[in-house]
Formats: sequence, structure tokens, C-alpha cells
Amino acid sequence: MKAGMSLDDPSSKRQAYRLKKQENREELKHVRIDPTATSEKVDLPRKRFYRQRAHSNPFSDHQLEYPVSPDDMDWQKLYPHFFDVGTNRMSKQVTIADIGCGFGGLLIDLSPEFPENLILGMEIRVQVTNYVEDRIIALRSNNAAINGYQNINVLRGNSMKFLPNFFHKAQLEKMFFCFPDPHFKQRKHKARIITNTLLSEYAYVLKEGGVVYTITDVLDLHEWMVKHLEEHPLFDRLSKDWEQSDKCVQIMTHATEEGKKVERKKGDKYVACFVRLPNPPIV
Ligand SMILES: C[S@@+](CC[C@H](N)C(=O)[O-])C[C@H]1O[C@@H](n2cnc3c(N)ncnc32)[C@H](O)[C@@H]1O
Repeated sequence: MKAGMSLDDPSSKRQAYRLKKQENREELKHVRIDPTATSEKVDLPRKRFYRQRAHSNPFSDHQLEYPVSPDDMDWQKLYPHFFDVGTNRMSKQVTIADIGCGFGGLLIDLSPEFPENLILGMEIRVQVTNYVEDRIIALRSNNAAINGYQNINVLRGNSMKFLPNFFHKAQLEKMFFCFPDPHFKQRKHKARIITNTLLSEYAYVLKEGGVVYTITDVLDLHEWMVKHLEEHPLFDRLSKDWEQSDKCVQIMTHATEEGKKVERKKGDKYVACFVRLPNPPIV
């Protein structure tokens, strides 16, 4: 805490909390947990201490760290449990991505449903990423006996700029876009997370048969996402019957923090899912 600050002051209370959590994070975030060791229960982070501006400009230079290529990414740090010390390699790679994961609710609900998949959240806002990291540290530690939550993690990153730096061609099976920022004004539409150019990048990292999941409470944004995905030659919309039978659609409809907010306000939710088509033959 800075000199002259008192713990009665809410901003210094937040700063002290953040500092403590930061120390904890630095110590624990890459640690491979021993499931046989007994340890103290770790408190789940409190969201109010991680508040920050609702929007982050995806076009600014956030001085983000990103690998030069997917092979330069050190996944062991994010998923230490899946590092095979015998072969000195990861035993799995990330196959599910939650783009703009916010406070991480989807990651947490997907984790036990896909124990054999590595699931990555990408989030541009620093404090929100810190919150998700702290949440995962606590969940891993408190569920160590069953190796819980080892298959999820979060990365601070701008998915509009650097996705192909993290993922190989056709690496992903599922990509989630849950309640993305709507960027209502027409002149801001270019900042939307689904555009023609970005869809080609998403098609590049998705394997054939992989699925793009979208959900929003903003009808205009829903129509925008559907239009762009329908116009793209590498995506085809999945039917309502398919949506009803897919467990991820059920999970994403209720798991995320934004989705819960919409539920509290009794708002509508619009879902659209698209399959990644095979590349057309080169003639
Ligand atoms: C409205 S919130 C939804 C969060 C979460 N998906 C949910 O449903 O609760 C949108 C999130 O996307 C993040 N975001 C926006 N643009 C991004 C980008 N280019 N790369 C990564 N995250 C981004 C924002 O910081 C924000 O947390």
C-alpha cells in the first residue's frame, strides 16, 4: 500500500487486496499441484476488487505478450498437469477456445464436461484476466484431490490480432463467442469480434467439422453475426434441432456472467452455431 493511504479508504483496500492476490498468483499460477498433499482452502476471488472499464479498445497497442508462432508458446505453464515429464512434451493441446471469456463462468462449467480437452479463455482486460486466474488457482487448489479444473486456463490477449500466433491451423474443435461487446454505433462496427476478415482467421484455426458458437442478447448483433457467418464460404449454420441436442449450447446459455445478467433482467438470448466446412478443392 502507498504511504499515506489508510485501509478504511475503499481504493486502498482494493489495492491491498490486489497486491496480496498478485503475490499469490505469482507464486501459484504455474504450479503443478500434488493431489496427495493437504493444503489450506484458498478463498475464491471477490469480483468487486477487480472492476475496470467495461470496454477495451481492440485496436490499441496493449503491449501484450504473444508468441512468435504456436510452437513458441509454453503451454506447460498454463496446464502443468498435462505436461508429460517422460516425453518432455504436452500430452494434449488446446482444442476449445472461449473468445472474450470475461469472468470465466463458461470455462468453469465446461471443465468437468470435457475432462480430456484443454480449454482456453482469451480476455483483453487485465483485471478481468487476473480475476479468472485467481479463480482457477483457487478451484484447482480446492479440488486438488480430484485434479479438478486442470484443463482450463486464461490468457490475456487480443484475439482480434494474435489468434494464429497461438493456435496451429485446424487445431480447434470449438470456439465460443458469448455475449461479445456489441459496439452499437455504425462507425464502431469494425471493432466487432465477428467480421469477414476475422472469420477467415477463425476458419484457419478451426478444424473441419469444428463449431463456432455465438450467443448475444442484442438482436442487431445477432443478425450481424449470422449474416457474416452465412456469407462466409467456410461456415454453414447448424439447425435449431442440432442446437437443442448440443450440451455446449445448453451450457453457454446459462454459464456466463453476462448470460446470468441477461437472465436477471429477463432479456432475450439469441443463439447461432455454425460448422466449419471442408476447404474447397483447389482447381
Ligand atoms: C460483454 S463481455 C462477455 C464476457 C463473457 N463472454 C460472458 O458472456 O460473460 C465481452 C468480453 O470480451 C472481452 N474482449 C473484447 N474484445 C476482445 C478481444 N479483442 N480479445 C479478447 N477479449 C476481448 C472484453 O474485455 C469482455 O470481457
